Formats: sequence, C-alpha cells, structure tokens
Amino acid sequence: MAEPRPGLALRFQRRFLAARPLRSLPWPELEQSLRTAPDSALLADILHQLESTAAEPLDELYEALAAVLKEEEESTHCYKNYLLPSGDCVSLCESTALISGGTTGLLTWEAALHLAQWALRNPGLFRGRTVLELGSGIGFTGIAICKSCQPRTFIFSDCHPRVLRQLGENIQLNGFTPEPDGSWSIQTESQGQEVKGQSCQNPKVIVAELDWSSATEKQLLALRADVVIAADVVYDPEIILALIGVLQKLSSSRADRKAPEVFIASTVRNPDTYQLFQAELDKAGIRWQVIPAHSSCNFLYDVQPDVTILQLFI
Ligand SMILES: C[S@@+](CC[C@H](N)C(=O)[O-])C[C@H]1O[C@@H](n2cnc3c(N)ncnc32)[C@H](O)[C@@H]1O
Repeated sequence: MAEPRPGLALRFQRRFLAARPLRSLPWPELEQSLRTAPDSALLADILHQLESTAAEPLDELYEALAAVLKEEEESTHCYKNYLLPSGDCVSLCESTALISGGTTGLLTWEAALHLAQWALRNPGLFRGRTVLELGSGIGFTGIAICKSCQPRTFIFSDCHPRVLRQLGENIQLNGFTPEPDGSWSIQTESQGQEVKGQSCQNPKVIVAELDWSSATEKQLLALRADVVIAADVVYDPEIILALIGVLQKLSSSRADRKAPEVFIASTVRNPDTYQLFQAELDKAGIRWQVIPAHSSCNFLYDVQPDVTILQLFI
C-alpha cells in the first residue's frame, strides 16, 4: 500500500537536518508548487521548519553551508540528525571525510539509510528478537531499528577501533547504554531466546568487536542471532570471502536452532564486485533473493537505484 508522502516542508527539514547535499532538497517541487499556487504559507512553513532547528533563514543558510564546505578539509567531524517517520531522531557524530583513520566506517552510507528504511517498514521482523549487525560503522541502521522496531537485543559489531569508539558514543548520544565489553560473548540460552511479537521498548544493546576474518563459529553461534543485517559491506573483493565465512559459521545447520534470517544492503558501485559476491554465495551454497525496491521513497534518502537488499538463506 502506498504510504502518504510527507509534506514539502517536512521533506526540506529532514534533508536539512541530515546534512544532505543542497541539490537533494526538493527545489523543483517547491518551484512547481509556487508556480501553480503561489503560497506564502508554504514558504513560511519551510522557513519555520528550518528555523525551528535553530538555523537562520535561507540566505544565511547558504552562506553557512558555503563556509562549512570550505572548512570541510580542516574539520574532521560533524553532527547529523536523521528524522524518523515517528518524529524521533537519530543523532550521529560522523566524519566529514569519506575515508578517515584508514576506514570507511566513520560516516553513514546510503545503503545504511536504505536498510533502515526497509527495516522500519518491516518492524515485525525485528520485534522481540536478537539482531546482529555486521560492519555497523557508526550505527545509523541499528539505532533507527532500536528506536522504532523494538528488538529484544541489538548487537552492533565492527572490527575497527575508532569506529567502535564512535559507535559507542553515538549509541549513548541516542539514549541507549551499551552493555559492558565482553557481555556479548556470553549470551545465555534464555537471553538469546526469540520472543517474537513481544514488545521491547528498551532493547539490550551490545557493541561487539567482531572481525570477520577471525570470528569463530563458537563466538558467532553464542550470539544466538535471529536476524543478521549489514549495510555497505560488499565493496572490496578482499573482504567478501571473510564475510561469507562469517555467514557460513552463523548458519546453525550444526546447532540446535533455526538459522538466522539475513539481509544485506549494498550500493552497487562496481558490478564486478557485486557479481563476485553473488558468485561466491552460490559457491558456498547460500541461496539469495533480491528484496524488491519499494516504489515510494519518502524517508531520508534520495532515490538511489543502485542500492539493493539481498535476503540470504544460510
Ligand atoms: C562502508 S562501511 C559501512 C558502515 C555502515 N554499515 C554504513 O553503511 O554506514 C563498512 C564497514 O565494514 C567494516 N568492516 C570492514 N571489514 C570488516 C571486517 N573484516 N570485519 C568486521 N567489520 C569490517 C568497516 O570497519 C566499516 O565500518
């Protein structure tokens, strides 16, 4: 069923708060609206939405943005606010550079927005369950899920020390308190048990240092994940095999419970890399299917035809 499209002013506000590029603001629609029905109330509404975030009106906004762009090389991080459909907000400290500290993990990538949007449309998949996120980066998808989908436990994971530090800070910034280090490896039987459908207003949140190249089957199965998700982790041929290795270890064909449901969102930058991933999945005997793209994109991200979500059957 088509979802109602948020108002123009709200779409301006969402993109502004999330520091999206200026070109992604819905200017053509604004122009169209003003041409067909010159409406000072609409402009006032947009200015109000932006001003309510403590920003100055548009002229000053442009000047401030230009200054920020000039300073981009000097400043290393910024705060972004992503408005969720519920009106709640995910606030993140992010790097201003695509790669910093030798990692791509210090900012939110399009695939993370896409995966969160899909998750928020399918909250029942996460409600009352233990969710493991691989390559969480600084946490957008997981925090959005914790705020909107009531998982029982959410295990954020990554391998990079700076990413893990920033991830922990962002989780706290959003009002969640990660369990102390080490607790992730001792999920007990009852902690890991699925209670699908049960409402979990306050999920247990864990930040795990988990490197795909060294994670053991014992460690992974101890997490007792019901659902495994990952965004933008298929970008480097060198890490694809390690990632598939983790999925194989997570498959509980040898364990006493159902295998987790797995969803991986990827931006297809290089079709060869993506095909390599699919070919390696086939070789590993992991079946996959493409989750059809939703026709209306009314959440945070601008329409990105090159982001795909695969469901994997491990
Ligand atoms: C492109 S970033 C995506 C971050 C986040 N999921 C997003 O979409 O915004 C890839 C992430 O995968 C993590 N990563 C790469 N190789 C990894 C490995 N071998 N084990 C665990 N995490 C890894 C990186 O540290 C980084 O945070």
